[in-house]
Amino acid sequence: MSDWQKTGWRSKPRVQMPDYVDADALATVEARLASYPPLVFAGEARRLKRELGAAARGEAFLLQGGDCAESFAEFSADNIRDTFKVMLQMAMVLTYGAKVPVVKVGRMAGQFAKPRSAPTEVKDGVELPSYRGDIVNELDFTSEARIPNPDKMLRAYTQAAATLNLLRAFSTGGFADIHHVHSWTLGFAGGADAERYLDMANRIQDTIDFMAAAGMTGETTHELSQVDFYTSHEALLLEYEEALTRIDSTSGQWLAGSGHMIWIGDRTRQPDGAHVEFASGVQNPIGLKCGPTTTAEDLKVLMAKLNPNNEDGRLTLIARFGAGSVGDHLPRLVKTVKEEGANVLWSCDPMHGNTIKSSTGYKTRPFESVLREVREFFQVHSAEGTVPGGVHFEMTGQDVTECTGGVRAVSDEDLSDRYHTACDPRLNASQALELAFLVAEELSARRTGAVAAAVG
Ligand code: PEP
Ligand code: CO
Repeated sequence: MSDWQKTGWRSKPRVQMPDYVDADALATVEARLASYPPLVFAGEARRLKRELGAAARGEAFLLQGGDCAESFAEFSADNIRDTFKVMLQMAMVLTYGAKVPVVKVGRMAGQFAKPRSAPTEVKDGVELPSYRGDIVNELDFTSEARIPNPDKMLRAYTQAAATLNLLRAFSTGGFADIHHVHSWTLGFAGGADAERYLDMANRIQDTIDFMAAAGMTGETTHELSQVDFYTSHEALLLEYEEALTRIDSTSGQWLAGSGHMIWIGDRTRQPDGAHVEFASGVQNPIGLKCGPTTTAEDLKVLMAKLNPNNEDGRLTLIARFGAGSVGDHLPRLVKTVKEEGANVLWSCDPMHGNTIKSSTGYKTRPFESVLREVREFFQVHSAEGTVPGGVHFEMTGQDVTECTGGVRAVSDEDLSDRYHTACDPRLNASQALELAFLVAEELSARRTGAVAAAVG
């Protein structure tokens, strides 16, 4: 869109954004951010777009994951390393199952702003504005903490820059070497499922040993020692996004410099709203969350606005319907996409439709529901002859107790042990890896099914 302006969203209806009280303070922060370097380079975003295009055709698979909300308090090298490491392990398992490259995209280095289901929160009769992520206000339940403070955008930028710097160092500096990544943090005790995972882990290990014996090591083979790792976040706080949006001198096009991929949340996807207007004009790959209330009509308009040239890899539709509901919604949206002849990558977010309150009062997600939604997603694509091209998880490399279930069986009573999330419950390292094994089995079955069909 040639007449698109990075300020254009300001004249559109906006939802889920804070009302800053001090306009001068906000303007000062915006000016400062606008003078800072962007965090990512346009060539990287274009490379990611090509890789997502391959995933849409079934020639690659997208793994997107990380915190629900990054937090200032939990910011540390260990946290970044552990999430990065478990994502590489998951990617290895998925590559083994799918036999295609896995595109790794972190919900990292910018995932700070949160949409909320209610504008206020009530505790013991006291009502305060909701917490909206560390880039906006604070989690503490005091009126002071809940005032939106624009200075937090500067701290978020600094944390994102440092996170990205470490991710880049890990990606190319030796940490990502396939021979190191395989030291699995399985910690699975026993049982039939655990045995199956260990069996797959052993087969992967065998393959790595064979390659090393044949002379393919990190030293000899660049692909075994380095990875491409991309960043993504919900482009919710548009003042922050606008300030980091720049013209890319090599293409003359706009780039959201805050991360490689940005997405539009289920609550901010109004076709005529501010968030869609912003995303429509930047060249980054765009994600669009699709929930039970996404209508075929809206989806048509959104696809036309967000991907007018029907470019490969530009648009990822992230389905998040909830276990048991995928069959009610995904087929109609898949049909709409087919009717429009639209190029999209279908990814599955089995987290946001499966949040419940546990018997002990914690917000949680049962592992069984998460897995069930992924399976339903695969089944629908199988029936429709379309490509299930990726998954989107809220997860951490830490051993938290936020989602119930998994082979290590976190119970409702265990949730209070290590419940650290600033927002939604995340899969812990073991649950995330377990899910990767199960998705790898689905991908492998799909692949062998396709081979059998071609032969038979
Ligand atoms: C999220 O991804 O953290 C989120 C809020 O998702 P959704 O917009 O799908 O609810
Ligand atoms: Co979330």
